[in-house]
Amino acid sequence: MIAFEHVGKRYGGRFEALANIDFGVARGEMVFLTGHSGAGKSSLLRLIMRLERPSRGRVVVAGHDIARLHASQVPFYRRQIGVVFQDHQLLFDRSVFHNVALPLVIQGVEPRESARRVRAALDKVGLLHREKALPIELSGGEQQRIGIARAVVNKPALLLADEPTGNLDPQLSADIMALFEDFNRIGTTVMIASHDLALIARLHHRTLRLRDGRLVADERAP
Ligand SMILES: Nc1ncnc2c1ncn2[C@@H]1O[C@H](COP(=O)(O)OP(=O)(O)OP(=O)(O)O)[C@@H](O)[C@H]1O
Ligand SMILES: [Mg+2]
Repeated sequence: MIAFEHVGKRYGGRFEALANIDFGVARGEMVFLTGHSGAGKSSLLRLIMRLERPSRGRVVVAGHDIARLHASQVPFYRRQIGVVFQDHQLLFDRSVFHNVALPLVIQGVEPRESARRVRAALDKVGLLHREKALPIELSGGEQQRIGIARAVVNKPALLLADEPTGNLDPQLSADIMALFEDFNRIGTTVMIASHDLALIARLHHRTLRLRDGRLVADERAP
């Protein structure tokens, strides 16, 4: 599903945020990405989303060297990836329903089909009953689940998350991770950047560890 081949990333021509990164993630895997602040976790995810391009090497996703995608193909490419951020980036003046529907509205999905998919996604994260609420009326954990519903409303083959539990207490963090495991169980490839080592250790998934832009460990699930 994902292959990094000797990937390097420099910002501003000098500073090397990632160096000689080599790994593969098979379709259907669930992988954690960890490392200290500044280790390069977000940079690595941004390369997969093609928000950045590698300075060296190749990033291959679903068989395509994504640096070679034509600009006109990039929006289509990104639609196949669900993305969850720490600060979930919800629109606070729009209902929960609208927030989750947004990717479908952008794609011009027919309203009835869109409503069906939004409700299915909300149901999966246990928040169908809050579809009319505004995000401001929800707890932090609920807001994060709305962000996850929005990320999966397209049924992406690949789900990326960057510190999805950053602001949440341990119980809510465990609940969010369980949701990602649910999506993984039905076949979605999942990659989660997190520095919550205690949580990662409890979950027994493969873990890639970055240090100063280098891949220093690739620990398979026991
Ligand atoms: N757009 C950018 N321009 C210049 N330098 C950047 C840019 N984005 C990231 N960096 C630098 O690249 C390095 C890796 O940053 P990155 O955000 O990938 O780390 P991270 O592991 O996600 O850290 P954190 O845990 O704090 O989120 C850092 O030193 C950062 O300052
Ligand atoms: Mg980061």
